[in-house]
Amino acid sequence: MLIFDAMKRFALLLALLGFLSCGRQETVELSLDEKLALTHAQSRFSSPGVPRLGIPELWWSDGPNGVRAEALWDSWAQAGWTSDSCTAYPALTCLAATWDESLAGEMGICLAEEALYRGKDVLLGPGVNIMRLPTSGRNFEYMGEDPFLAGKMAAAYIRGVQSKGVAASVKHFALNNQEKARARVDVHVDERALHEIYLPAFKRAVQEGGAWTVMAAYNRIWDSHCSENSRLLTDILRDDWGFDGVVVSDWGAVHSTAAAAAGLDVEMGTSTDGLRDNPLATDYNAFHFAAPYKEKILSGEIPADVLETQVERILRLHGRTTLSPGRGRGRFVCPEHAALARKVGEEGIVLLENRGGLLPLDAARTLDILVVGENAVKKMAVGGGSSSLKAKYEITPLEGIKAAFPLSRVRYERGYVGDPGEVYWGVSSGQDLTDPRTPGRLVEDAVAAAAGADVIIFVGGLNKSKNQDREGRDRLSYTLPYDQDTVVEALVGTGVPLVYVNVSGNPAALPWHGRAGAVVQAWYLGSEAGTALGAVLSGRVNPSGKLPFSWPSALEDTPFYGNERTYPGILREDGRIMDVYYDEGIFVGYRWYDHAGVAPLYPFGHGLSYTTFAWTDLRTSVRRGRLRVSLSLENTGDRAGKETVQVYVGAPAAGEGASYERPLQELKAFRKVSLGPGESQRVHVEIPLPELGCYDSAQDRFVTVHGTYVVRVGASSRDIRLEKQIEL
Ligand code: BGC
Repeated sequence: MLIFDAMKRFALLLALLGFLSCGRQETVELSLDEKLALTHAQSRFSSPGVPRLGIPELWWSDGPNGVRAEALWDSWAQAGWTSDSCTAYPALTCLAATWDESLAGEMGICLAEEALYRGKDVLLGPGVNIMRLPTSGRNFEYMGEDPFLAGKMAAAYIRGVQSKGVAASVKHFALNNQEKARARVDVHVDERALHEIYLPAFKRAVQEGGAWTVMAAYNRIWDSHCSENSRLLTDILRDDWGFDGVVVSDWGAVHSTAAAAAGLDVEMGTSTDGLRDNPLATDYNAFHFAAPYKEKILSGEIPADVLETQVERILRLHGRTTLSPGRGRGRFVCPEHAALARKVGEEGIVLLENRGGLLPLDAARTLDILVVGENAVKKMAVGGGSSSLKAKYEITPLEGIKAAFPLSRVRYERGYVGDPGEVYWGVSSGQDLTDPRTPGRLVEDAVAAAAGADVIIFVGGLNKSKNQDREGRDRLSYTLPYDQDTVVEALVGTGVPLVYVNVSGNPAALPWHGRAGAVVQAWYLGSEAGTALGAVLSGRVNPSGKLPFSWPSALEDTPFYGNERTYPGILREDGRIMDVYYDEGIFVGYRWYDHAGVAPLYPFGHGLSYTTFAWTDLRTSVRRGRLRVSLSLENTGDRAGKETVQVYVGAPAAGEGASYERPLQELKAFRKVSLGPGESQRVHVEIPLPELGCYDSAQDRFVTVHGTYVVRVGASSRDIRLEKQIEL
């Protein structure tokens, strides 16, 4: 019966789209009001269907690493359901750090299954804004600094999500690279940086991932809001890239009916005039795409075919999602989803330093382990803004460490107090971590507890509180918050070997790093956080994560320090709009450090293993428009492990009479390889030659120049093991 209903509705949809031409042509007319209703919200997270024709509502949900708790109809506040606690997956910085496209696809599938179970049709993610600043509050939700890595991982994630009949919404289109004044900044970027750095991940998400929806960002470009930007939403997205899906606004990002003709299809989250202060009484008829739009259509000020086109795209989205025959019912918080969340965490954790082979700690021995730091006990799925999740459960690092070392004595000391609880729009972590001790006393107690310990595991870093890894604001400082440096210094001073575990989605200054035995980047790992961390610390899992961004020693090493033009921007005379100038151009992330001759603390692509690999016999050839690269990789250690082969290409600066400033090298391919001890494998990658081009602003297209290219293959952007020159 259900299948029959679904098929009937699907046939109806085809009729609406005018696709039924075999003999009997059905015509179904929508009224103007029905059409308009499709284009804007009816609640905080839903937009109407056409009830008369059985076309269901569309339910939109954050995203990106779990399905958000139910909100009240008209408000951000939680509805208080008891059945909406999801599996929390690692944040997308961690997914990017796995450098594993198939894992991104699997995570997409699991997320879609959870979305289906919860009745969601569109998952608001992935976010692929390039990490420009190491202090931007939302970097933890994104996929790092490199457009190729972010684009490949996002495309795989999207294919996974959409294979289940749930739409992904790639966001925030485009140039939403800072949180400070995010709705007021007007970004000034040159054409090369636009096309080589900031757009490619979106383009790949659309063309390789086949994204069915794109979310227009809050900020402005070329003196117009992204949601009203016809160059962005029509010329680039639809005409150049062939996008045939729906553009939805970020919540509250629409400012006028002009958005419709510019290419925006659905308006969500607008705070309507006069009712702003009453979250329970939003007047959806006052949305720009409701009464004001109707008036303009009726008066002819906006041509009716603008609305027709929007409706066609929205119905196409229904065909792909709500009306797609065979769409399953999904599943929620099942063991398979937990296992995948754990796997993404295990594969994404990055071993940054490991002096004297301090890690892994031997779980077969009886050790005295002192765990210190608030992040060892703090649940992190809640918080951070719209990606905040109500997790069914969350295993903390301390719980994970205790489980991973069952023969050891594991003691805990707080060390510092940061944010003792977390509540986001009524969703609470349920923890009260208040501690009456003074900061000085907390340090003294931690140092005293270190006596007799075999090892200290300090679990600190950032959290999702205001001005840390959180939407809406950026970090105010690069230093670790809550004076953690003092605690770590004091613990290092005890002489007990120390493992520093950093929980964050952003880098931070680690001035004492040379004196810590090991440094581990552990991200926001979701429900299985502690289990994944315990597995890596004990060596049950050999770490294989690689940084998806460069980790500078200090902000002074970046192009943004002390230069308000480049960040946060210069306030206009109107006292409202901030002009921000991307003066660094294409030199973002490792491209900047290579160009400026500055060594980051940890380079892009860096990540150690408990085993070692030998890289030999690099071969290159060019055939059928593709650069083919192969090499032999051997696991020369005594435990199984994974290495990510990273292929960077350095292009000539000049050729064919033209000259372009080029980065020293750019990531053009990667492959994660799993090898048993002593095992070796020939690794092959192919790079289509147009991928080696650069954007010529005068010709308004990518060009590939002839000349000598350098193929550089390595374990990080600064650990190049083999290189070869080729003539193209
Ligand atoms: C965020 C989006 C999010 C939306 C809905 C906005 O504030 O920028 O990323 O999807 O809210 O929660």
